[in-house]
Amino acid sequence: MSTPKRYTITAALPYTNGPIHIGHLAGVYVPADIYVRYLRKRGKDVVFVCGSDEHGVPITIKAKKEGVTPQDVVDKYDGIIRKSFQDFGIAFDNYSRTSSEIHHQTASDFFQKLYDEDKFIEEVTQQLYDEEAQQFLADRFVVGTCPKCGFEESYGDQCEKCGTSHNATDLINPKSAITGATPILKETRHWFLPLDQYEPFLKEWILKEHKKDWKSNVYGQCKSWIDDGLRARAVTRDLDWGIPVPVEGGDGKVLYVWFDAPIGYISATKQWAEREGKDWEPYWKDEDTKLVHFIGKDNIVFHCIIFPVMLKAHGDYVLPDNVPANEFLNLEGNKLSTSKNWAVWLHEYLEDFPRKEDVLRYVLTANAPETKDNDFTWKDFQQRNNSELVAIFGNFINRVVVLTNKYYDGKVPSPSALTEIDEQTLTELKAYPTVIASSIEKYRFREAQAELMNVARLGNKYLADEEPWKTFKTDKERTETVMYVALQIASALATLSEPFLPFTSEKLKKMLNLGETNYSWEDISTEKVLLEKNHQIGKAELLFAKVEDQEIQKQLDKLEATKKANATEDAEVIPQKELIEFDDFTKLDLRVGTIIEAEKMPKTKKLLVLKVDTGIDKRTIVSGIAEHFKPEDIIGKKVSVVANLKPIKLRGTLSEGMILMTENADGKLVFVNPDENGVNSGTVIS
Ligand code: 2FM
Ligand code: ZN
Repeated sequence: MSTPKRYTITAALPYTNGPIHIGHLAGVYVPADIYVRYLRKRGKDVVFVCGSDEHGVPITIKAKKEGVTPQDVVDKYDGIIRKSFQDFGIAFDNYSRTSSEIHHQTASDFFQKLYDEDKFIEEVTQQLYDEEAQQFLADRFVVGTCPKCGFEESYGDQCEKCGTSHNATDLINPKSAITGATPILKETRHWFLPLDQYEPFLKEWILKEHKKDWKSNVYGQCKSWIDDGLRARAVTRDLDWGIPVPVEGGDGKVLYVWFDAPIGYISATKQWAEREGKDWEPYWKDEDTKLVHFIGKDNIVFHCIIFPVMLKAHGDYVLPDNVPANEFLNLEGNKLSTSKNWAVWLHEYLEDFPRKEDVLRYVLTANAPETKDNDFTWKDFQQRNNSELVAIFGNFINRVVVLTNKYYDGKVPSPSALTEIDEQTLTELKAYPTVIASSIEKYRFREAQAELMNVARLGNKYLADEEPWKTFKTDKERTETVMYVALQIASALATLSEPFLPFTSEKLKKMLNLGETNYSWEDISTEKVLLEKNHQIGKAELLFAKVEDQEIQKQLDKLEATKKANATEDAEVIPQKELIEFDDFTKLDLRVGTIIEAEKMPKTKKLLVLKVDTGIDKRTIVSGIAEHFKPEDIIGKKVSVVANLKPIKLRGTLSEGMILMTENADGKLVFVNPDENGVNSGTVIS
């Protein structure tokens, strides 16, 4: 599009059924925030909206699980999520809620207009129904096999494996997620959006107009859906949590959450405009507006097909110019998962790494899943902090500020004639705003941030080559010039880092005493002086601190504990055996023994021959634990022994009893261990 007059930037409304984690930040909110901060810096007219997605089945399920109301759930998580966004500097103009009145009204009016203009197909169809729960099953209330990819745990409206969006009745072997029952089919009336009728529009708009400027992952998904043929999709549901269907026959029904949620972008803009005394309409209706949706890849179909069809059917609105969806972020090699607690939760991160908001923003951008799924590892986090933020960015600023204070009491010195290297350095510096801008405008935030770091590298190299700490003793004039040039680079960094590292940029501006920045992004590329001679800067403060090994270990331990807890939860529970009489139990002679000798049984993999002091005698017991223990490690160990088990010969050795073992969460055999209780050998277990 030619130069837009204004920008409407949206970030996916998070479901309010849990806190948010690094995957959300990396995939959607940090890139959106970088883009918006950059646009603002360039003086653009921009509104940045988001909000809590408070309807839909996931919230109802969470409420059921916790025995509270859906309203309780959304109130709780709206607060937590809102705070996380604030803490990480995600600078929305408005963060709204889909439970707000303005949203209910906007979504309801939207539906009504489409209804009045006959844009829906109204039909009584057979839908899945859980007789036990007496409820229709839609969306996440039903799981089954995806008709497209065969994934066995696809949801009713979308398969998380292949991303396909389908109707619940398309699932093979559907099961109720509420009771586990196999649903029956029952008639019910609904309103359908006939996506098929919009195929020509979608083909023209996406396949022709956006073939070149949309990311290939986004374009590819859209093309495949369009090529597969689109079908009508129900936009209403038989549920009691949501926005009531406002038309005749709509009693007891609500709007499908994916119908109301994207309208949340519009209602959030309205709410913002009301608060700011502005007109919201140009931001959604004026052709000169550039609308961009930041989302994760699982939301592509809704933002590139369904919502645009809704907007088109409505007729008053502009269509998105771009939908720069990201792929997924993994954590230490495994998929991030809220239910498995496999995540770095934002609120917990800040407890462990206070004031390191920018470090996480930086690492997530450096490693952003822009073109493929990527992995977040704590080692990489530490390495990027220590070797990049501390060693490059922080180090450059620290040297400049410390030396300026030391040599000139913090006053920017006057330059003399510039040498070729000074000129060359300043010329290089002047190129960066355009380079960084160009990457940001193409939604390549990793690349843009890498260029930002190159500015700090330029400064470091300049200082290392010119060595003002050496020339200070021999050539005062040269030193003043070098420090002057270095200070210009430091000042440029304060502005160029703002979209990526807002907290650091703020701190740096304070350190350089920049006040209200008196130069712009564009000025860096001109002859304009960024820090005037004699300007008084402040004292040096460290911008970044090292992350120590033990801090990383603590995070890895936390994840290890999560893994164990999950393994225990997932472990198959063996059903209880038949009941026995008390007399049967008393027949068992269980007692504590001590292993006094241990050696491998020759020519076997699994067997150890143990000599055990049972308190009665010292006897031989053959035990199948050789793959789990080295003989030398278990001598002296207290163990639980079945003493009166009839002796049997194992590989020619008589075994006179049995050692009780169990399995830990990792599947490793461990002793049923009386060691911890300080008991003596021979003590009877009863
Ligand atoms: O995937 C999700 O978390 C959805 N709540 C995103 C909604 S985006 C928009 F349409 F509101
Ligand atoms: Zn699938």
